[in-house]
Amino acid sequence: MEAKGYTTTAFLATLLSLTSVVSAAPFVAREATGLSTGFNLIATIVGSSKQLSVPIQGAALEGAHVGAGLNTAVLNATSPGQIFYQNGTVEEVSTDRSSIVTDGGTPLYPYGLDIILNATDPSSPVAAAINVGIGTQGVTLTTPASEPGVLHYGTTGFMACDETLAYYGPSWHFAVVKTFEETAAIAAIIPDNCVQINLLPLCATLEDLPAGSVSSHEFANEVRCFESLNDIQ
Ligand SMILES: *[C@@H]1O[C@H](CO)[C@@H](O)[C@H](O)[C@H]1NC(C)=O
Ligand SMILES: *[C@@H]1O[C@H](CO)[C@@H](O)[C@H](O)[C@H]1NC(C)=O
Ligand SMILES: *[C@@H]1O[C@H](CO)[C@@H](O)[C@H](O)[C@H]1NC(C)=O
Repeated sequence: MEAKGYTTTAFLATLLSLTSVVSAAPFVAREATGLSTGFNLIATIVGSSKQLSVPIQGAALEGAHVGAGLNTAVLNATSPGQIFYQNGTVEEVSTDRSSIVTDGGTPLYPYGLDIILNATDPSSPVAAAINVGIGTQGVTLTTPASEPGVLHYGTTGFMACDETLAYYGPSWHFAVVKTFEETAAIAAIIPDNCVQINLLPLCATLEDLPAGSVSSHEFANEVRCFESLNDIQ
């Protein structure tokens, strides 16, 4: 009885260790992801080896101030970027009518990610903005249960372009984030100074708002995001 019991335990232990070896292989390779209401948006280059004078891969989305309450959406590789949240009711999120918001100013106001398409030629890229307000409804992160989503807005594609902004003069180069309509019928035309990008969420802490803020985090939704910048490739 004793020996048989031991054998069974040993057999079970062997079975367990085999099981864990088998399941460990894909698990080790998988990035760590988590759930967070706050996130940075990190750019990855899609299918290009083009070298631009501004860093893009791994750079974070933020606004470059261009007027009162107005910012052009740019990428910055030396700042952690702005902390965004996906704002909307549960119903708005599930029907792709939420928007992407960050807080700025004193007191804190909501600044929404605005996606503008060229009305006459939607395939022609237009700079995105991070302006005071609620942002463009329908700009969302897909929310599959197990993987972080990619920022999307219908069939809009994203690119980053090496450009100057009139507000900062001719010597300061920015990676300006632009959007364009991208469908099977309309091939994306990526100008020489631009590369196509994806924007992916990196988990960040959405701080409590100080008293007197105009912003509200009441409708900030949890999203799945990467825990580490190294996992965003
Ligand atoms: C990037 O962020 C750093 C740190 O906030 C800032 O000093 C720098 O001017 C920014 N660069 C651009 C191109 O916006
Ligand atoms: C829209 O696209 C047309 C055609 O490419 C172009 O002439 C026009 O300047 C664009 N408008 C904006 C606001 O980008
Ligand atoms: C956030 O979503 C709520 C619910 O739809 C809405 O009332 C509020 O105006 C939104 N705020 C921003 C900044 O988009």
